[in-house]
Amino acid sequence: MEEGLKSNRCLRIVPRMAETDQLDELLTCRLDFARKKAEPCTIVIFGASGDLTARKLVPALYHLFVGKQLPDPVRIIGFARREKSDEAWRAELKEGIAQFSRSKNVDETAWKAFAGSISYCQGEFGDPTAYQNLEKMIASSPHEGPRRNCLFYLSTSPSQFAEIVEHLSKAQLLSRDGENSTGWQRVVVEKPFGHDLSSAQKLNNELTRFAHEKQIFRIDHYLGKETVQNILMFRFSNSIFEQLWTRQSVDHVQITVSEKIGVGGRGGYYEEAGALRDMVQNHLLQVMALIAMEPPVSLEAESIRDEKVKLLKSIRLLHPSQVPMAVVRGQYSEGEVNGQQRMAYRQEPKVRPGSNVETFVAAKLLVDNWRWSGVPFYLRTGKNLPLSASEVRVQFRPTPNVLFAAQCGPKLDANAITLRLQPNEGITLRFNGKIPGTSLQIRPVRMHFSYDAEFGAYTPEAYERLLLEAIEGDATLFIRRDEVETAWNIVDPIREAWGNQSMTDQEFYPAGTWGPVAADQLLSVQGHAWRNPQPIQ
Ligand code: BG6
Repeated sequence: MEEGLKSNRCLRIVPRMAETDQLDELLTCRLDFARKKAEPCTIVIFGASGDLTARKLVPALYHLFVGKQLPDPVRIIGFARREKSDEAWRAELKEGIAQFSRSKNVDETAWKAFAGSISYCQGEFGDPTAYQNLEKMIASSPHEGPRRNCLFYLSTSPSQFAEIVEHLSKAQLLSRDGENSTGWQRVVVEKPFGHDLSSAQKLNNELTRFAHEKQIFRIDHYLGKETVQNILMFRFSNSIFEQLWTRQSVDHVQITVSEKIGVGGRGGYYEEAGALRDMVQNHLLQVMALIAMEPPVSLEAESIRDEKVKLLKSIRLLHPSQVPMAVVRGQYSEGEVNGQQRMAYRQEPKVRPGSNVETFVAAKLLVDNWRWSGVPFYLRTGKNLPLSASEVRVQFRPTPNVLFAAQCGPKLDANAITLRLQPNEGITLRFNGKIPGTSLQIRPVRMHFSYDAEFGAYTPEAYERLLLEAIEGDATLFIRRDEVETAWNIVDPIREAWGNQSMTDQEFYPAGTWGPVAADQLLSVQGHAWRNPQPIQ
């Protein structure tokens, strides 16, 4: 059934009245009163010449600075191999902000003040002298805070994480005591965090030799998205939804993260990762954990992370022999996305011509706990799909087969709640209604909450929130050691089952389609069907 959110087919948002605004104001509940204060510090970015630094990290820091959310004073030091002056690095960063930041705008006065806190430290990651230079730079700060407190952001290849923390420790820039009266040091690491359970355990062991677990902030940028954070508010600050959030009411759940882009220039990385490691092990399982976890005992970081881990541990592990029935992989072949010709994955730069790496995964996971027993969670992600959209659809059970259901049969649509994580962020409730008129006709209608309509277009980038939380020392939005390891435990048997098996003809999907046919069959055997995200017109 067509499910576009065309404005003439949705319940329109009623213009907000002044009294409603006042009431909303009165009922706005501040939760961040207990928020830790961002203390003056130095932020050292390892991998300062990389893409992530220019596209995400520095634009996020710049917006935090403009919004007066960064501590004052703050120092930002870029550490990388290439020879470069402070001026040259600043010019690159300014260009990056103009090109990639959400505002695409560099305010000259703000930039001048921001640029004054930025410097560059050239060095090899394995060279002890480079860390001594870094130590001198940090110690040269005229202010106490940036000398005492350091956030080390490792935006490098994961193979360099262990080496960097060891050198930081030897240079006495990082001490395993973590937070103490003489200041704090934290280490932020980017994914991928290992490539399977044993490599993740090894990496965790190496990192925790030099930094305490509470000093390690593992990033999954999905957790920094407003809509992903809102899942907990939606579930636990409303009484009407949570009562329905059980196997008694929910038929199944669909989590889709689809992307219109192909692998582009990241073929080399993708050949090692594939969609399972790149997206499922982290972003999709994190979203699933938030959707399905039990209420935490408090809003403390550890309580929330405990519940996420508990949920991940309740996901039924697949034996490699069960994988063909529960997981579908695919790889894009040539095709068209939005009228643009796309090459096959195997023709992308740095991809092996006979590669068997998956660019699409659909999986059916079961959760063995009291709340979700028997409810399938369908996860799906892929590149070169028709639309870029991340959505969670909670599909409720159909009504009993009496009254309207008895007359309409399968045409009577079951209710659903869709959480649109991006784009067109919002939540839609779908239910049936009578078409006005003298005849008796029923069809689905939608109630639609849109972030833009309610709150305006301001949505901070995920990295702004994440960087600020790391500076403040709040670990809620970061992945704990046991979380990352449990997630690998779920995906490892899938990888093992695929082994080096060649892609079969059925596993290829033309770019611009919703993946291989087998992904539809995965659901249809249980009488279910994917509801594809729709463009909002
Ligand atoms: C990254 C993956 O973690 O997430 C990319 O490595 C993917 O392959 C990206 O494109 C998707 O993030 P977003 O925020 O664009 O949905």
